[in-house]
Order: sequence, then C-alpha cells, then structure tokens
Amino acid sequence: MVGLPARGKTYLAQKICRYFKWQGVSARVFNVGDYRRQNYGAAQPHSFFDPTNPEGQRQRNDVAKLALEDLIQWLEKPDSSVAVYDATNSTRDRREWIVQRCSQSTVPIETIFIESICEDASIILENIKAVKLSSPDYANEQDPDRAARDFQKRIHHYEVQYETISDEDDLTYVKLINVGSLVVLNHIQGYLQSRVVYYLMNVHITPRCIFFSRHGESMYNVSGKIGGDAVLSPRGEEYSSALPKLVRDNLKDQPMTVWTSTLRRTIQTAQELNYPKLQWKALDELDAGLCDGMTYEEIEKKYPEDYANRDKDKFTYRYRGGESYHDVVLRLEPIIMELERQSNILIIGHQAVLRCILGYFMNLSIQDIPYLRIPLHTLIKLTPRAYGCDEERFRVKIDAVDTHRPKPGATDGPEKDGEVPVLPSMAE
Ligand code: ATP
Ligand code: F6P
Repeated sequence: MVGLPARGKTYLAQKICRYFKWQGVSARVFNVGDYRRQNYGAAQPHSFFDPTNPEGQRQRNDVAKLALEDLIQWLEKPDSSVAVYDATNSTRDRREWIVQRCSQSTVPIETIFIESICEDASIILENIKAVKLSSPDYANEQDPDRAARDFQKRIHHYEVQYETISDEDDLTYVKLINVGSLVVLNHIQGYLQSRVVYYLMNVHITPRCIFFSRHGESMYNVSGKIGGDAVLSPRGEEYSSALPKLVRDNLKDQPMTVWTSTLRRTIQTAQELNYPKLQWKALDELDAGLCDGMTYEEIEKKYPEDYANRDKDKFTYRYRGGESYHDVVLRLEPIIMELERQSNILIIGHQAVLRCILGYFMNLSIQDIPYLRIPLHTLIKLTPRAYGCDEERFRVKIDAVDTHRPKPGATDGPEKDGEVPVLPSMAE
C-alpha cells in the first residue's frame, strides 16, 4: 500500500485480503502500525512522525523492517499466496527498498503497489473521525478535537516527504485517485494482479445497506427435502406478504434493487416487493446433484459414505453430480463484485448461497461458512462500516421449519427465539 495517513489503505488492504481468503487463496495483511504499537507503544505524539526527529525515524524504520521480514517469511511458506504490506510507503527510497528486499526472497515475489490519493478534505476528516479517534493511538486522549488536530499534524509530517509514484516506470502499480474516480494502471500482469485491480475498481465507500432473506418456507422445506424448485408453503406465502413492510421500515424511502435466484420460491417471495428486480442464475441454491429432492435421512441411508464425508469437510464436499460450497463460492464471485459496486440491494436467496455471501461480508472462515445459521423468515441487514459490517437480524413471527443441520458433535442447539428480535407478522 502507498499513501498518506487516512487514505483508506488499511480499509483496502483488509478488503483485498478478505476477498482472496473467501475464495480459498491464502492472504494476510502485515500492518506496520501494529508493529509500531507493539514495539514502541501506541500513544505517540505527532512529533514521533516528524521526519526531522531522528529517534522517531529510526524506530519507524525499525518496525517497517520487522514487518517486511515477517511478511517475506510468511510468503516463503508453501501455502501462502498474497501478502499485503500495509504502511504509508510514501517515499521512493522506501519503495525501492521493498522491491529490493523482496527480490532476495527464496521464493519469487511479484510486487504490486496500490496507491490511494485523496484530496477531498471532508473525506479525510470523516476518515479520521471514523477510525483514527477510536484507534489505540488515541486511547488516552479524552478530547476528540485535540486527537483530530494531532492526527492532522501527523499527516502533515508525511506530506512534507511524500513522493507519489510517478516516473518509477518499472513498478507494477494501481493509483486510485479520489476514491477510485480516476484509476491509473502500470504494468499489471497475471491473474491475481488483474483480480486485485478489477476488485479495487468496484469498491466504493458511499453509505448503503445490503439486505438478505431466504425465500419463505417452501413445500420442500416442510417435507424436509433439499433442492428442487418447490413453491412456497402457506406460511411462506404469509412471510412474502410481511416482507414489504419490514423492508420499508428499515430502508425508509431510499431506492433499492431486489435480486432473486431463478427458482420459484425466491421469485414468489419477492413478488409483493415494489422495487426493480433482477434474477440471477448464479444465486440458485447449491446443486445437490443425485441427492436433489431427497431428505437428509434418505441421503444417509442411500449414500452413507457420502453423507459422512460431507460432515467431515462440508466446505469442499461435492455432491455426486452436483456442487460443493467451494463451487458455490466460485460461481458467486461476480455477485460479490456487483454487490461491491452497487447501492442498496436486497437478495432473496437460499440457505447455502446466503451462507457463502454472508461469509464474505462477515469474514468467516471457510470451515464456518457451511454451518452459519440463516433461519427462514428472518431479514438480515448489513451496514458496511470502516473495517467491517454491522449485522442486524429481524425475525418475523411466522413459524417455519428449522432447516439447519449442525455439525455432528458440535454444541450448537436448536435455534431459539430471543436470539434476534421477533417481530409480529406484518402482512399488509
Ligand atoms: P493510516 O496510514 O493512518 O493507517 P489508512 O490510509 O490506512 O491510514 P484507513 O485506516 O484505512 O486509512 O481509513 C479508513 C477509512 O478510509 C474508512 O472510513 C473508509 O471509508 C475510507 N476509505 C476507503 N477507501 C478510501 C479511498 N480510496 N480514499 C479515501 N478514503 C477511503
Ligand atoms: O434445506 C434447504 C436448502 O436450501 C437445500 O435446498 C440445500 O441443499 C440445503 O439447504 C443447503 O444446506 P446444507 O448445506 O446445510 O445441507
């Protein structure tokens, strides 16, 4: 990463890492600020960052080195793929040193520099308020205005020596100018680099909400069957009538688009929602192949070995002639890209598919994704924040079967009312 403080470097670094990890590519962020706090304490005044302060300069170089050494050591491990070096890296010398040190690694390391430039003072002030005042650096500072002034002085120390990437022609880089309103690319090559660039071009920071709901209870849910293209049960229809008011209470008059799968139960659930709608084949439920239309008990009886294997490694287990959770994640990648680009969206989806999408937003491990609880008749609201998302759940008081199968041996009891607010049925 390259850029002055409060330009969204950590935000972007963490997002890139989350995106790759979700797809099963091992990725890790090395934040030099964390090394500074660990080695020299968090509460450093702005003068620590003054380039004319030799002791501060020495200590900062020290931690930059420690972090880069750890990063290289990590990349030298067999399964590591993407490391993000999260620091200001704001001088030409620093960048040269990084390239030089990486070239001495025992494994080939390709470097790509991601520079965030932002001249909008109001965004920078917002960023300071959103993340810097609550950072451990200001834990002992009671007065937020004094903390903000100190941080602005810190920025000024960096501005004095800042050199934007310019004629370093042989570097591979992406420059994001004013939150991606202008993007400059140089020497981008290979699959991972082009994915990073495409991803960064889609990311925005305009406030919005993403809503998720499974379809209303279906006739297959009632009979315990998986897959299929069943219609809603009477209770599922009731949920579909209750949904518009619940959504409107949360969204007020803001615009939104509703995405469904191409299966009848999601389309039916969306039918009373008065918003533009889009059907995505990529949102169809995990394909259970030969087991489609069977109950879990029938699968256990007919394919006992498969059934046991699924519980051993549910994320990678692929149904005979069907899909695994990992397959679903890979086919959902365009959905994630589009979700990053969009404003308010409501996805009416399916259990496995929503687990995968929420897994991305909530940074869940690929082991936890297939066991995430997403009950029927529940609206989930995600509000993206500086370094993650807030999650709220609204459960509508219309009974539905529980389709969640906990991992055998796990202490995950049946879902209880009271874990989330239970709302009265609000059919209009
Ligand atoms: P520091 O150098 O102090 O670690 P930083 O550059 O890492 O600062 P962040 O901590 O990532 O800055 O700042 C987070 C804020 O940046 C978030 O509130 C986010 O909305 C905002 N942000 C994200 N992307 C950008 C961008 N491209 N330009 C400006 N701000 C951004
Ligand atoms: O039971 C509803 C359902 O959406 C099925 O169609 C699908 O096979 C299943 O959930 C996915 O959940 P799990 O991966 O826990 O079996």
